[in-house]
Amino acid sequence: MKAIVCCALPYANAPLHLGHIAGAYLPGDIFVRYRRMMGDDIIFLCGSDEYGTPVSITAEKLGVTPKEIVDRYHREHERSFEAMGIQFDIFSRTTYKEHTELVHEIFMRLYKSGYFNEREMISPYCETCARFLPDRYVEGTCPYCGNEKARGDQCDQCGKTLDPTELINPVCAISGDRAEFRETKHLFFRLDMFSEKLAKYISSKSYWRENVRSFSLKFIEEGLKERPITRDINWGVTVPLKGYEDKRIYVWFEALMGYISASIVLSKKRNELDLWRRYWEDPQTKSYYFLGKDNITFHSIIWPSILIADSRFVLPYDIPANENLRMDGQYFSKSRGIGISVDDALARIPRDYLRYYISTILPDTGDSDFSMQDLQERVNSELISKFGNFINRLTSFVSANSIDLHPGVNDMEKMQPALSFIDEYGKLMEGVEFKKAIRRWVDFVQVGNQMFNQLQPWRTQKEDKEKCASDLHILATYGAIMTLSLYPFLPESSQRIWKDHLGCSVPMDSEAMEMLKGGKIQFRISHQGIPFTPFSAVQDNSNGLNLVIAKVKDAREHPNADRLYVLKISMGSEERQIVAGLRSSYSIQELIGKKIVVVANLKRTKIRGEESNGMLLAASNGDRTGVLVPSEDVPEGTQVEIGGDGYNRKGTVEIEDLKKYDLRIRNSGGTNVATAVIGGRVCVLEAGNAKVVPDREMPEGSEIH
Ligand code: 2FM
Ligand code: ZN
Repeated sequence: MKAIVCCALPYANAPLHLGHIAGAYLPGDIFVRYRRMMGDDIIFLCGSDEYGTPVSITAEKLGVTPKEIVDRYHREHERSFEAMGIQFDIFSRTTYKEHTELVHEIFMRLYKSGYFNEREMISPYCETCARFLPDRYVEGTCPYCGNEKARGDQCDQCGKTLDPTELINPVCAISGDRAEFRETKHLFFRLDMFSEKLAKYISSKSYWRENVRSFSLKFIEEGLKERPITRDINWGVTVPLKGYEDKRIYVWFEALMGYISASIVLSKKRNELDLWRRYWEDPQTKSYYFLGKDNITFHSIIWPSILIADSRFVLPYDIPANENLRMDGQYFSKSRGIGISVDDALARIPRDYLRYYISTILPDTGDSDFSMQDLQERVNSELISKFGNFINRLTSFVSANSIDLHPGVNDMEKMQPALSFIDEYGKLMEGVEFKKAIRRWVDFVQVGNQMFNQLQPWRTQKEDKEKCASDLHILATYGAIMTLSLYPFLPESSQRIWKDHLGCSVPMDSEAMEMLKGGKIQFRISHQGIPFTPFSAVQDNSNGLNLVIAKVKDAREHPNADRLYVLKISMGSEERQIVAGLRSSYSIQELIGKKIVVVANLKRTKIRGEESNGMLLAASNGDRTGVLVPSEDVPEGTQVEIGGDGYNRKGTVEIEDLKKYDLRIRNSGGTNVATAVIGGRVCVLEAGNAKVVPDREMPEGSEIH
């Protein structure tokens, strides 16, 4: 089979979190590894989605250029994927010239064929910023679900695509001022022209996931309307038409073409310029799109419409979209800073354990929950105690007794459970049902262990050496089938076990599977112990931060340092003196009376001759500084909680210890608040009913010290 496998191009505007991995990228990688193992001819495509308001608005909020943002996150995403073992053939960028060229070409082709309308439309406009407010630049209340943070193009809460005129109380996302509406000229894509063809196309996809199919058909039934595909912004692909110099192509309209442009970049990389055409222009090629459910209609309606209009390339064969991953009941969300980032997760969890656990909880047919405790249990009990132990007992017995494994006669009956596993596993993998496949795998490992117990090699070793050798050959074949079928999920560990423990010298592919079915693989077993180390989710037991709300009673200039103040603070039951470097950003008057957050268990010290017993927390970004304060008035002495961290807060900590918390201003639920990373999880700092926030507006990402 010839296939194109695509994963949704992530916006290059924030770190990737495990929700992305579970929703699109790990399933894509598992699928590709499986199909390649089966001998299919595949290109695996992804890249950064770099244009449009998601990037430009992040840049504006951080006070940097969009280019700086995309360069940074493109590199970061590339590293995160590599660290997860997710291996695209190409991780392209929509800022590449190959992309612009392709977009211009398709755009003009559609324009000339009459698929676009030009007309005036009413758009939100901000007087303060003197500009139009496309997509994410305008926010307001969703008319469908009441979410107060719905954006101009879409509501994240209910998933509806919105027109900015539908928003209740629309405001500018930058200035916060009320948006007004003005006329502006745009090009519209005539989606309405495709209703019939799309309905027929989707109806024929009986093998699509039910949610994807019904959601898409419903979208068509509700009536397809023409859609504006240009925007009044300057960060995007230019519009190749006169009169549109100040406008750019809507990010979604061009990002979808990023799949094809990625394959063009791949062709250049491989020095085979027509490679991409061999895939996209062959009607026999099957194209798969792995993505989260927010992206369904873009791939099942808009992208097929573009492809039908263009008429040169294959339409999506399957769109295995996933639901969402939750952590402790909350949805992972890049924009709201909830969940574990890939990098944080990998700092604590070995890659293959993470891949294993996520595979067992993939949100394929419904939302699912990630929990560290559950991860520990599954990894230790399934992967290690069941599978690791099987490999260990097999290899240790064979080595200790120097058994010369060889197939016996009439052993096919014992192979039956393995053959039915292979059959069911294959069907599940082809049907993109990876969670079921890995669960079926765990059952099979159990069967293998039972078989070991039944065959009792420790007895036959004494009573019937010939039977012992052939039984162990069967058991080794079981072990090899377990290992081979684990490959798409855990490429690294399975290859290690295949080679080092089982001593299989043939490649891990469909031919090996066929040989295993016939009991024809040679082993050179070597006992190396259990092939995994147990995993503990428990954090280190060093001391934790004791953060307390205090009130500034008095402040004076430090006699020996012009950047420092000496503050008298009250923490309820106790008064203290601390030294703080705030002289360039706060006056004494501004500080007195302020409720602040102090690290109360910092090692006591003297700074330039003045005692400092604790440290005040402030956020800074370049030369801007904002002291952390409770968002509502809470009594001094109130303990600041960091997600129930469970650390011992009695012992003292050093300044260095602050680093391990990655204290930062992050956006949570639409506001910028102080957060820390505990156990790989982003936690908001809370004091009683209040959140901890900077007392001045500080951009997301500002560091706290
Ligand atoms: O949701 C997202 O992160 C989008 N950047 C997905 C785009 S998929 C395709 F259009 F490239
Ligand atoms: Zn809504």
